[in-house]
Amino acid sequence: MSGIKIRGTGSAVPAKTVTNADLSRMVDTDDGWIVSRTGIRERRHCRGETHLELCGSAARKALEMAGAEPSEIGVCIVATLSPDQFTPAAACLLQRDLGLAEDTICFDLNAACSGFLFALHTAERLLGASSRKLGLVVGGEVLSKLMDFTDRSTCILFGDGAGAAVVEFREDWPSISAVLGVRGNYPVLNIPGAGGAEPSYIHMEGQAVYKFAVETVPKCIGAVLEKSGHAMEDIDEFVLHQANERIIDAAVRRCHLPPEKCYKNVARYGNTSSASVAIALDELVRLGRLGPGKRALCVGFGGGLTWAGAVIEFT
Ligand code: COA
Repeated sequence: MSGIKIRGTGSAVPAKTVTNADLSRMVDTDDGWIVSRTGIRERRHCRGETHLELCGSAARKALEMAGAEPSEIGVCIVATLSPDQFTPAAACLLQRDLGLAEDTICFDLNAACSGFLFALHTAERLLGASSRKLGLVVGGEVLSKLMDFTDRSTCILFGDGAGAAVVEFREDWPSISAVLGVRGNYPVLNIPGAGGAEPSYIHMEGQAVYKFAVETVPKCIGAVLEKSGHAMEDIDEFVLHQANERIIDAAVRRCHLPPEKCYKNVARYGNTSSASVAIALDELVRLGRLGPGKRALCVGFGGGLTWAGAVIEFT
């Protein structure tokens, strides 16, 4: 037995709110279509704020809530697919900006919308071998720069933001029991990147992603419960990736989850990829719904294709 618990959380979103009405002036869409298909009403887009600023702001709030000094951090991982630049890694610049020690293990990780949970699992493993037992895990995205604002099927879905957690490792705490999965697939969801033949925008086969998600989320919830040894009743909050309200509702129906334990903020932020679960956790902590003595089952899914689930406790 050994594992991490969350000691502090933080989140940050850009100031600019983009409503469905705003998007309907750019592409042939309307609020009714977007709300009925996705549950999204508005999202935040950066207008000058950088990816690093969002991640730094979320991280500072998490450090403050944890009452942790930067010098106590042994591992810093930023989950992202949309950093400001290829190198230096966002985590390296956070080392500078937050004043983390130079021997902190800092790197970025790309597992798309599953990234924050991949990063928590990785931090748990690395902290076991680290002399410092606190880790900083951030999920941050500026997806607005990767969106084709002439493609109505994708530009309505995504938003920008960052969430962070300071985690603590102890030998006598249970593992987060992470379940991670990958099924390599290019066409279903991709962003070609620099040098590709196509422009570097998000491309997605919406229905294929939807089908993948509604099949994967229940399987992932079941696998995490089995691995952790918990029953459904042991879970205080189910924090599912905020991609689409219909996907969350499908999981509620298929797994018989209590709807009041399935947090949703997709209406306000859209899909913020790796930031999504992290922002939701922070909001739940600040609402008093999560914290010491509480247990969250989190699930992410997305590009890769990837999926991940874990049970998170708090200290
Ligand atoms: N506004 C109005 N009409 C739109 C539209 C928009 N923003 N986007 C697409 N449409 C149209 C399509 O052009 C199509 O029109 P047609 O029948 O005349 O060809 C029609 O709506 C139906 O399109 P379809 O793609 O079948 O819609 P859908 O019911 O599958 O909903 C998504 C589209 C994207 C909302 C849905 O597939 C989805 O949520 N997929 C998962 C996406 C996701 O979560 N991705 C991230 C995972 S991490």
